[in-house]
Amino acid sequence: MPLGGRRDFVLVGMIVGGTQLHVGRLDPGNGRAQGGLSDGHGRIAALDGGLVRIFIAGVDGYLGWALAQHLIARGHDVAGADTFFRRQWVEEMGSWSATPIGSMKERLQALKKHCGKELLFWEGDLRNYGFVEKIFRDFQPDAIVHFGECPSAPYSMIDVDHAVFVQTNNITTTFNLLFAVRDIRPDAHLVKLGTMGEYGTPNLEIPEGFFEIEYRGRKDRLPFPRQAGSWYHWSKVHGSNNIMFASKIWNLRATDIMQGVVFGTRIDDMGNDALLLTRLDFDQAFGTAVNRFCCQAVIGHPLTLFGKGYQRRGFLPLRDSMQCLTLSLENPPESGEYRVFNQFEEVYNVTELASKVANAAAALGLDVEARNLENPRKELEDHYYQPEHKHLLRLGYQPTHDVEAEMRIMIEDLMGYRDRIEAKKAVLIPDVWWDGRREKIKFLEPAPDPDGVEAR
Ligand SMILES: NC(=O)c1ccc[n+]([C@@H]2O[C@H](COP(=O)([O-])OP(=O)(O)OC[C@H]3O[C@@H](n4cnc5c(N)ncnc54)[C@H](O)[C@@H]3O)[C@@H](O)[C@H]2O)c1
Repeated sequence: MPLGGRRDFVLVGMIVGGTQLHVGRLDPGNGRAQGGLSDGHGRIAALDGGLVRIFIAGVDGYLGWALAQHLIARGHDVAGADTFFRRQWVEEMGSWSATPIGSMKERLQALKKHCGKELLFWEGDLRNYGFVEKIFRDFQPDAIVHFGECPSAPYSMIDVDHAVFVQTNNITTTFNLLFAVRDIRPDAHLVKLGTMGEYGTPNLEIPEGFFEIEYRGRKDRLPFPRQAGSWYHWSKVHGSNNIMFASKIWNLRATDIMQGVVFGTRIDDMGNDALLLTRLDFDQAFGTAVNRFCCQAVIGHPLTLFGKGYQRRGFLPLRDSMQCLTLSLENPPESGEYRVFNQFEEVYNVTELASKVANAAAALGLDVEARNLENPRKELEDHYYQPEHKHLLRLGYQPTHDVEAEMRIMIEDLMGYRDRIEAKKAVLIPDVWWDGRREKIKFLEPAPDPDGVEAR
């Protein structure tokens, strides 16, 4: 069932069960809930707008599993749903997660042991509105974090079936959540994960969602033009437009996060239990740049730069992503407000990042080189890139500036799973081309001349 067939849904985990929980307002210092009431069913109720019941759509994924742990550690009451598509997609690409992933049952048990609190989990397909409606009625979320989409550009470019699947999956899950908010929890805050890739790489500064424009003598504040670079990225643009419209006509509150590329294996809340580590993929479709580079470093494979390797993007460590999402959740917008946050730590080009990974690897005794390959994508390889990111900083985001230290932690984690990466190393070289071809890309000989690239 590679593209994700329909399936029935089941409730697999339960929160507490009779345990008296005390919640209410959030302590502004540490964000933990304090004081308050149990609803008598072991589920906690929000007082005075204190945000405590958070539903994570796509909780089994890379970000979802980490965020669930982070929010539980902060005292929130967390539930999630997933249909395990990500596991199937990666298998379809001939790969697996470098970090071994337990079944959801094992994950839930490990989580309970670690933090003493259970995660309420439903297995099912978020494209099924009845499934979403049931979760909303049972859990009554105060906030929803929507990760439940297919996040891969190459996967969406494979062929017509994959393009249609990615767009319909991503647009449908968003629609279902929007309608459930409108009809069941109209005050709830929807935090939707978009991507910086929605903007593309315009030769202009990129604002956070909107910009002031003067045209033929008149002025307006309009959505900044989106120039996505894959069917996946366009699915995110369509989702953004739908949320913007729904917020306006139904008075919903929504935060649309234009997130940069995330890297990392862990956050502090995970402790030392391997079952709590989040997944980490390295195949061509689901292995994002730094995650893939670190896996390559661990097995002595060249770090793979596509084309000239000067594509500039916003990046952020996993722990920063958790920090930013928490800030968004704990500082909700007004009713009817649709806001856009650009979420990243810093902009780097991929050659700079590869050299940071090589430095981090060298500190651990690994000798790594970066090499350029053909670029299977249609994209600019050397370009202007100046996105703004002020909103989250204003809310208190403290970026991790020592990204090499993050990379070292990551490489150390991954060194324990060298055999798993080695076993699937064939997936490190892509074969999905944006023009529809399916053939392995080749190393560029000689490498592109770095002097031919403009300094930025
Ligand atoms: N990881 C990054 O670097 C990054 C960067 C920018 C934006 N994002 C966005 O963040 C979100 C989460 O990313 P991720 O890396 O955690 O992806 P992921 O694939 O690991 O997580 C998504 C989860 O949603 C589930 N899912 C998908 N469709 C579903 C459906 N119809 N019903 C039920 N479950 C479904 C998947 O099984 C998966 O577990 C995505 O929307 C992605 O576009 C991620």
